[in-house]
Amino acid sequence: MKQVILNNGTEIPEIGFGTWQTTEGVKKTVNLALEDGYRHIDTADIYGNEAEIGEAIEESGILRTDLYLTTKIWNSNRSYHGVKKSVEQSLNKLKTDYLDLLLIHWPANEKQFDNWEEINSSTWKSMEELYKSGVVKSIGVSNFLVPHLRALLKTAEVVPVVNQIEFHPGYTQQETVDYSKENGIVIEAWSPIGSGRLLKDKELNVISDNYGVSPAILCIQFCLQCGVVVLPKSENPENIKNNLHFERFKISESDMKALKTLKESGFSGLNPSAVDF
Ligand SMILES: NC(=O)c1ccc[n+]([C@@H]2O[C@H](COP(=O)([O-])OP(=O)(O)OC[C@H]3O[C@@H](n4cnc5c(N)ncnc54)[C@H](OP(=O)(O)O)[C@@H]3O)[C@@H](O)[C@H]2O)c1
Repeated sequence: MKQVILNNGTEIPEIGFGTWQTTEGVKKTVNLALEDGYRHIDTADIYGNEAEIGEAIEESGILRTDLYLTTKIWNSNRSYHGVKKSVEQSLNKLKTDYLDLLLIHWPANEKQFDNWEEINSSTWKSMEELYKSGVVKSIGVSNFLVPHLRALLKTAEVVPVVNQIEFHPGYTQQETVDYSKENGIVIEAWSPIGSGRLLKDKELNVISDNYGVSPAILCIQFCLQCGVVVLPKSENPENIKNNLHFERFKISESDMKALKTLKESGFSGLNPSAVDF
């Protein structure tokens, strides 16, 4: 599978398997995904499915070095010690002794904390130590908007390799994407299909029909064509396979523009500067 090179020289498969809201039966879906050839799995402490994913990986017999595993530090563990505890638990559940990528799931934000910058920088410092020790091969952030990135970069010794953000037709967060790219940070697209909300978008369906593909595949190709690592999620065996193995095609410039400016029908409504969780 095509790999994207990150700013520390490591490589990440351009398509990863999303696992949010897949607790029932996640072992089965991850088994299927691995059989189909996915080698990049995206999970998080808060998804509550790391243990089952660990079992699926163990059963697959795939060499650990052939897999790319990402997990995330949940908001209740934002702190120097919280990070260490969280990573130890994630490693146990995933039955591994290292992570390929560890992310801060959401930034401490300006709405909830007066000292949000300090919280994010001490969380990051702890992650930098894990990175230097080799327990974590790469570190990154998720849902960081420009002010959160700018503040973090003031004190960071290690620049995040990725920023995993909501990204799909109609919601491309251009300012965050541009600032991340200017700083050598690769974008990963979460909810590339808008958690399924985009499947019924009329304008998107007209465009996908023109290319003879499904709306979901159009969304995935859109992300790839934007130079973004994409994390589709599915519990349907056929969709799991198609999302990885569809025949690549080229979306025209005018259709890319139309998809970027589509109405926000896929948007989750979550603003990282304003969320209260
Ligand atoms: N960092 C963060 O804060 C954050 C937040 C949200 C998500 N994420 C990550 O991003 C991943 C993906 O986002 P998401 O879970 O919101 O979902 P998504 O990938 O945007 O959409 C999933 C939905 O699309 C449907 N679907 C998938 N492939 C399809 C296909 N080929 N044809 C038709 N329908 C298809 C699925 O239904 P079927 O099951 O029926 O296929 C499901 O309803 C997550 O699982 C998680 O790993 C991260």
